[in-house]
Amino acid sequence: MADERAVPLVAVIGVSGSGKSTIGRALARELAVPYAEGDDFHPESNVAKMRAGTPLTDQDRMPWLHAVADWLADHAAEGGVVACSALRRGYRDLLAAAAPGVFFVHLHGSAELIGARMAERHGHFMPSSLLRSQLDTLEALQHDEQGAVVPVDGTPQDTATLAVAVVRAHLSPDAARQPPIGL
Ligand SMILES: Nc1ncnc2c1ncn2[C@@H]1O[C@H](COP(=O)(O)OP(=O)(O)OP(=O)(O)O)[C@@H](O)[C@H]1O
Ligand SMILES: [Mg+2]
Repeated sequence: MADERAVPLVAVIGVSGSGKSTIGRALARELAVPYAEGDDFHPESNVAKMRAGTPLTDQDRMPWLHAVADWLADHAAEGGVVACSALRRGYRDLLAAAAPGVFFVHLHGSAELIGARMAERHGHFMPSSLLRSQLDTLEALQHDEQGAVVPVDGTPQDTATLAVAVVRAHLSPDAARQPPIGL
């Protein structure tokens, strides 16, 4: 009998600069499912705030989170990967309520490492000044969430390989009811 979790439905989460877009795209390619860029679901007013270095309020985030949740729900049968910071437990609960099969891949690195990578990034609207507030906002995956922590201190290829492995482990039948996979 087919395992109902055999379709990968993944939200790649983490602070700005942790590699969500880079790894999310690679993961979707490897798993052969559609990819969505969570940033594309922000209304223009949110993009303007982020560009100005102003942290978003929870109220700002609601239309964005609901749009991401809708995308996940729409891809529950086909599978998909979305890059979406989802730093707070409450945001992830909203996504998981809309798409109960969603698996969270949390990209984790030190503030120093991610800050250095952000400083090297060009043509991106997220200024480094938001990193601190994102790190303060971040709530780690909890044991009753479906997800895994993936370190980003290697190359993008290393990280993508680990991300594929944790998703495949989750999808394998004997991975049922496991707590989040730690570092
Ligand atoms: N191991 C790694 N994993 C992921 N990204 C890495 C890694 N090593 C270096 N990088 C680089 O770090 C940067 C990560 O940027 P990326 O835009 O993917 O992050 P993001 O989480 O999507 O940020 P944002 O939330 O601002 O959109 C890229 O320039 C990527 O090449
Ligand atoms: Mg991104």
